[in-house]
Amino acid sequence: MLAELPFLLIQLMYTLVSADQEFHFNGFQSNNISLGGVAIITPNGLLKLTNSTFVAGQAFYSNSITFKNKDSLKNGTNSSLVYSFSTTFVFAIVPKYSQVSAHGMSFVIAPTKDLSAAAPSEYLGIFNPTSNGNASSHVFAVELDTFRNLQFQDINDNHVGIDINSLNSSVSRPAGYFDDVNEEFQNLTLPGGQIMQLWVEYSDLEKQINVTLAPIKIGKPKKPLLSLRYDLDKIINEEMYVGFSSTTGTLAFAAHYVLGWSFMVNGMARELELSKLPKLPRIGPKKKHIFLTIELPLILVIILLLTISGIVYYRWRKKKFAEVLEDWEIEYGPHRFKYKDLYVATEGFDDKELLGIGGFGRVYRGVLPVSKIEVAVKRDSHESRQGMREFIAEIVSIGRLRHRNIVQLLGYCRRKGELLLVYDYMPNGSLDRFLHNSPDIMLNWKQRLRVIKGVAAGLKYLHQDWDQVVIHRDVKASNVLLDIDMNARLGDFGLSRLYDHGTDTQTTHVVGTIGYLAPEHARTGKATTSTDVYSFGAFLLEVVCGRRPIDVRKEVLLVDQVCSLWNKGEIIQAVDHKLGVDYVVEEVELVLKLGLLCSCVDPNVRPSMQQVVQYLGGYEQLPELSDLSISQTGFTFENDTVDVLTTSTQSYSVVESFLSSGR
Ligand SMILES: *[C@@H]1O[C@H](CO)[C@@H](O)[C@H](O)[C@H]1NC(C)=O
Ligand SMILES: *[C@@H]1O[C@H](CO)[C@@H](O)[C@H](O)[C@H]1NC(C)=O
Ligand SMILES: *[C@@H]1O[C@H](CO)[C@@H](O)[C@H](O)[C@H]1NC(C)=O
Ligand SMILES: *[C@@H]1O[C@H](CO)[C@@H](O)[C@H](O)[C@H]1NC(C)=O
Ligand SMILES: *[C@@H]1O[C@H](CO)[C@@H](O)[C@H](O)[C@H]1NC(C)=O
Ligand SMILES: *[C@@H]1O[C@H](CO)[C@@H](O)[C@H](O)[C@H]1NC(C)=O
Ligand SMILES: *[C@@H]1O[C@H](CO)[C@@H](O)[C@H](O)[C@H]1NC(C)=O
Ligand SMILES: *[C@@H]1O[C@H](CO)[C@@H](O)[C@H](O)[C@H]1NC(C)=O
Ligand SMILES: *[C@@H]1O[C@H](CO)[C@@H](O)[C@H](O)[C@H]1NC(C)=O
Ligand SMILES: *[C@@H]1O[C@H](CO)[C@@H](O)[C@H](O)[C@H]1NC(C)=O
Repeated sequence: MLAELPFLLIQLMYTLVSADQEFHFNGFQSNNISLGGVAIITPNGLLKLTNSTFVAGQAFYSNSITFKNKDSLKNGTNSSLVYSFSTTFVFAIVPKYSQVSAHGMSFVIAPTKDLSAAAPSEYLGIFNPTSNGNASSHVFAVELDTFRNLQFQDINDNHVGIDINSLNSSVSRPAGYFDDVNEEFQNLTLPGGQIMQLWVEYSDLEKQINVTLAPIKIGKPKKPLLSLRYDLDKIINEEMYVGFSSTTGTLAFAAHYVLGWSFMVNGMARELELSKLPKLPRIGPKKKHIFLTIELPLILVIILLLTISGIVYYRWRKKKFAEVLEDWEIEYGPHRFKYKDLYVATEGFDDKELLGIGGFGRVYRGVLPVSKIEVAVKRDSHESRQGMREFIAEIVSIGRLRHRNIVQLLGYCRRKGELLLVYDYMPNGSLDRFLHNSPDIMLNWKQRLRVIKGVAAGLKYLHQDWDQVVIHRDVKASNVLLDIDMNARLGDFGLSRLYDHGTDTQTTHVVGTIGYLAPEHARTGKATTSTDVYSFGAFLLEVVCGRRPIDVRKEVLLVDQVCSLWNKGEIIQAVDHKLGVDYVVEEVELVLKLGLLCSCVDPNVRPSMQQVVQYLGGYEQLPELSDLSISQTGFTFENDTVDVLTTSTQSYSVVESFLSSGR
């Protein structure tokens, strides 16, 4: 018990002596800190020593620190010693411009906390020309110098030095640290905006000062950056103030921050709690720098690109679906289709929707977006032609035609250099398909006769039963379409007019398709109801014989062949052999003879469609052909009025309207 007493007493004494000998700040509050110059404590607890050019800022712990034993001084002896002390602080030098900063900051032990007499800039706010190098100054400092002053023998613009009564450092080294692994030196840039930690230690026994620097969070390196043997007895008075000082230059400046600070006399300064330290301002000059030079331009460029692509897409879309709509078309509103709808309906005019390629361009199947009606869209890509207005008027007229044997025209759409016609969709395609090129499905006689009667009824409707006479101009098997019930429907009437674009100026305006073309039609270019009857005659022979009206390779006309068989009294031989014997002889003979009658060279001999329907229906007796002295068709294949054609299914065009008004 007694043995422990001295120990307890020493403890008690020590506690009393060191009452105000230890402190630590994890972030600052203004009530324990004396500020000088422009130094401030920010709301979040940062000690900000400087903020602009050519200023000085200081901050001291409010109370003085006792560095020496007062009792020993009273003794009148010089046995008094400066106590050991240690301090550590976390700081950041955030330059306005990248890595250029002046002048620096320092940890200071001074006799007074009022350093207003000190000079700014290179004097770091701790000396002036009189006090620098003056033994009566009693200043101990560790400088973090970011400017090279040759007058103070600075080694570079990024160094750490121990200053004793003088800015001519007793010892200095470039900023950096020795790593613990192999004591290799690692450079650090003080004015890099990086958060670092500095340790300053003094041992009264060894009379040694150690200074250690490290980036934050790696801990204190074992080997100090600076180590100086020096007895501070003469420098440090018994009562001293501890703190920081910082100055900036006239041009480049930096914000000098202290984030946390711990100090202790006679012991190791308490470790700072790094997680509790205040944060540096979020948009420090460096971050702002990156944001302004890289991120912001990048964002702007991206926004710009998005905007441009948006505009381009909008224009592309607008152009893609652009239509031509003139004032005079307004009244045809109900017959006008939106290009966009047709585009959607045909899946962008996809090839898999392609039904065929004919004399009038490509035909696509489609399903209208809202009504879900199946349609066929003819897309004719010819340049704008004369008489478009009249043509559209006629198209719209045609749209009013209603008959179960004609294909309903639903409407149209115009674009630059393009005309689109919309029809009812005929699922079973054209009659051509069932007659020629060894068809998968062959029509039997009953079906053929039904088709013939249907076409006759449709043509009669066009010629007679409407308030205007409509001349088809291109009656042929490939223009006869079959609906779901295999009813024949006449399509494409009048469309040959589409081709009056005037490029064939050398030839007379020719109509129809070779083999279906009446001789006088080819000669004069004028289409009449009886030229339609002639074509219908060729069509009759085609359907019954299962052959095209003209064999281009052999240069023979079907009508001539049937005619010569008839002359020999063997007209029945002309019937399609594929039918076998599955037909009614009388009906076949009737149709073939009617075909020949319609194919008469003399238009006056040809029956009207009204009569044709009568003959086919058996309501009227077909006149004897011999009485009409039918011989040859008189049509020469080589006649130059007919433009040179390679296939018999192509169509020609005419100039005059296919609608001849009145009757
Ligand atoms: C600062 O001062 C306050 C009261 O003014 C006190 O409670 C606190 O302990 C002091 N902090 C330090 C580190 O001295
Ligand atoms: C710098 O700090 C001082 C004192 O806090 C203030 O008066 C001054 O406006 C500040 N200057 C700048 C540029 O922030
Ligand atoms: C201080 O002086 C007292 C008497 O005045 C003496 O007893 C003591 O030993 C002295 N201490 C030292 C360290 O000299
Ligand atoms: C004690 O130191 C002072 C200077 O600090 C000196 O003048 C004095 O002579 C010294 N006294 C002794 C006893 O060494
Ligand atoms: C040293 O400082 C003292 C007081 O501050 C002053 O009187 C003296 O002239 C200075 N010495 C020099 C050489 O400047
Ligand atoms: C600092 O060093 C410079 C250059 O060697 C010298 O001229 C000056 O006198 C020194 N100042 C002090 C206070 O030692
Ligand atoms: C450290 O800095 C010095 C002087 O600027 C340079 O010579 C050396 O290469 C640097 N070392 C490393 C590891 O960057
Ligand atoms: C200073 O550093 C040296 C070398 O690491 C060490 O031996 C010494 O004890 C240190 N002194 C202080 C006061 O930390
Ligand atoms: C005609 O079309 C209908 C409906 O698509 C179909 O069921 C029928 O098989 C077709 N007939 C022929 C001969 O293709
Ligand atoms: C074409 O034939 C007709 C008679 O069929 C004839 O009048 C006309 O001159 C012929 N055309 C040419 C260019 O030979």
